[in-house]
Amino acid sequence: MSFQPPKGTDDLIMPRSQAWRDALGLWEEWSARYGYSLIQTPTFEATDLFERGVGDTSEVVTKQMYTFEDNGGRSVTLRPEGTAGVVRAYLDSGMQGAFKGAYSGPFFRYERPQAGRRRQFYQVGIEYLGVPGPLADAEVIECGKSYLTELGITELEVRINSVGDGCCRPAYYKALRGFLNQRKADLTSDSVRLIEVNPLRVLDSKADGPKLDDAPKTTDYLCDNCEVHYSGVKQALGDLDVAYSEDPKLVRGLDYYTQTAFEYVGTGLDTAQNALGGGGRYDGLAEVLGGRSTPGVGFALGLDRIMLALGDPEKTHLDAYLVSEVGPEQGLQAANQLRKDGLRIDLDLEGRSVKAQFRTARRLGAPVVLVFRGDGYLVDVQTDEERAEVPLQEVSVWFSKS
Ligand code: HAM
Repeated sequence: MSFQPPKGTDDLIMPRSQAWRDALGLWEEWSARYGYSLIQTPTFEATDLFERGVGDTSEVVTKQMYTFEDNGGRSVTLRPEGTAGVVRAYLDSGMQGAFKGAYSGPFFRYERPQAGRRRQFYQVGIEYLGVPGPLADAEVIECGKSYLTELGITELEVRINSVGDGCCRPAYYKALRGFLNQRKADLTSDSVRLIEVNPLRVLDSKADGPKLDDAPKTTDYLCDNCEVHYSGVKQALGDLDVAYSEDPKLVRGLDYYTQTAFEYVGTGLDTAQNALGGGGRYDGLAEVLGGRSTPGVGFALGLDRIMLALGDPEKTHLDAYLVSEVGPEQGLQAANQLRKDGLRIDLDLEGRSVKAQFRTARRLGAPVVLVFRGDGYLVDVQTDEERAEVPLQEVSVWFSKS
């Protein structure tokens, strides 16, 4: 066929799709366990929301947005991230006080595609609004870490930093500008332009960031309030048994962060795509969007990268394939019974030969074949290691024991 997915996008299809489904299933459970309700916001928003919210000097906004005019002449943008939309929705709802929302879905950034860096990618994330204290930051950081661990990611590091706030930033920016001006000759023209408008972005630049190891550290310029907050986050992470390292170079790529910034780093991956996720506090975002002052903290994790870290697992979506020796009508009834017992079952409904049904079972990667004979509802359970005759109504018990 002549059509392929657009550059930087992917089809997700079995046998890789089951690991995604498992990760999303665990996400639903995990985010609910921490008290998060489901929130869904539109896949496209007014362009202005991201320009103001994410920041018009960030690379995401200046270079990576899919922006177009709709037929009504409005400028809209496919969401490059989820936080601005969630804060907009919270403000729009008129809700007061604390709010915890969890989301998952596709996001869009015009990037140079490579493994783990896609133009359409998938995030799961949470936003915790309305709570200013460091316990919220620690709870959020722990939630993401334990989700990744529960998924089976072992090579994982949590890196944290504080990027300060409007109070301590002027002094830090002054020091950073002084340092960057001395290094001007080594920097790209993009970075030189950013020195005045947003010097923090220079540290985050792919081209120049790595050369600037000796730049002034945000943490050396924190005001008392930010210092106390940062200590509180570290104390609470310790109390929650979350191992972390401090990374004074961690400034994140979006402009809304204040105080806490953090990343989950998959240490088994190449550095170009080893950020499995990241987040932080964004206490000024609601006001930037024209709403009432509302603190917030959250993270997003990239599923494409999580799958790379897990080794792109191929998994079956079935518990068993039912091969019917007595035709599809009786087979369907038996399958229905097993599905009611909670098993994931597929079968052939076309009345194909037993041999052909076995072939399909193999093609679908079914770990177990249930040969249904109809006689007294005994089922011949077949796996690579085992064969057993089990009454239909006890097949699910057999599964729970095996
Ligand atoms: P972000 O760091 O831009 O943060 O993205 C979070 C994660 O999404 C990244 O660590 C990465 O795993 C994944 N990701 C980002 N871009 C791509 C891409 N082009 N291809 C594949 N994966 C990608 C945010 O988006 C913030 N909204 C997170 C946040 C929530 N901060 C506070 N609340």
